[in-house]
Amino acid sequence: MTRRVRVIGIGAGNPEHLTMEAVNALNSCDALFLPRKGGEKDFLVRLREQICGRYITRKDPKLVHFDMPVRRKDSNYPAAVDDWHLAIAGIYGQLLAEEIGPEGTAGVLVWGDPMLYDSTIRIMEHLRDRGRIAFDYDVIPGISSLQVLCARHRIPLNRIGQPVEITTGRRLAQGWTTGSADVAVMLDGVQAYEGAGEPDAQIFWGAYLGTEMEILVSGRLGDVAAEISRLRQAARAKHGWIMDTYLIRRPASGLTAQDETVPLNREDAA
Ligand SMILES: C[S@@+](CC[C@H](N)C(=O)[O-])C[C@H]1O[C@@H](n2cnc3c(N)ncnc32)[C@H](O)[C@@H]1O
Repeated sequence: MTRRVRVIGIGAGNPEHLTMEAVNALNSCDALFLPRKGGEKDFLVRLREQICGRYITRKDPKLVHFDMPVRRKDSNYPAAVDDWHLAIAGIYGQLLAEEIGPEGTAGVLVWGDPMLYDSTIRIMEHLRDRGRIAFDYDVIPGISSLQVLCARHRIPLNRIGQPVEITTGRRLAQGWTTGSADVAVMLDGVQAYEGAGEPDAQIFWGAYLGTEMEILVSGRLGDVAAEISRLRQAARAKHGWIMDTYLIRRPASGLTAQDETVPLNREDAA
């Protein structure tokens, strides 16, 4: 027997987005590790606590808060990220040693889905390979912000038989260079849609998805970009933080008729 970690996707802001598997996983944990980050901050901490309070039926669940280290702002981005992950792995190693027994189970609550722009899985691998404490882990999927975005706008993520690129605002700001006609953008601190150079593209934008503060805008990029930026700034000023994500869809004329209508095979029609 060994210690076990459950990496649990909790959805991106709506407590009702937890799956039954996630609820059962929460209830299987002897301790839950809850990060405190800077910025978005109290809201996310409270939401994690609310989720634990609402779904954990065992008596007195052990909620262990810890301060998430801050990534240093460094011109060498990959090195800064590596060091940051190492620091987080060190904290998880210490929490595993101190907060659960040798056969205990700990839960790590991950925003949205752990496979999308989240490094918890990478950190677990690192800790398991190089840490001093033996443990195994599993991953429970969650509903990601991208899924909520598509659901709210009532759009499929992909067009028939077409690829979709998922990228960051930082990368989109460097230019829309891939062949993909559709791009989903996360982690955009620079309002990269403003400089996308595609006024005729459609944008489907959402902030605080799944929460009571949710804001949605869609339309022709050239028509709505300024309005999104205005809403974004006002919301950030009001709440002190913002999380938003969006899909930009180039006009269908950029695709050939074959691209749009003839699936390459049956699977591509999905
Ligand atoms: C570190 S990534 C985590 C993504 C998360 N794992 C997921 O599945 O949604 C954070 C980014 O996800 C997006 N995001 C997360 N939650 C969101 C929400 N409730 N509304 C809008 N965007 C959100 C934003 O682009 C944010 O910058």
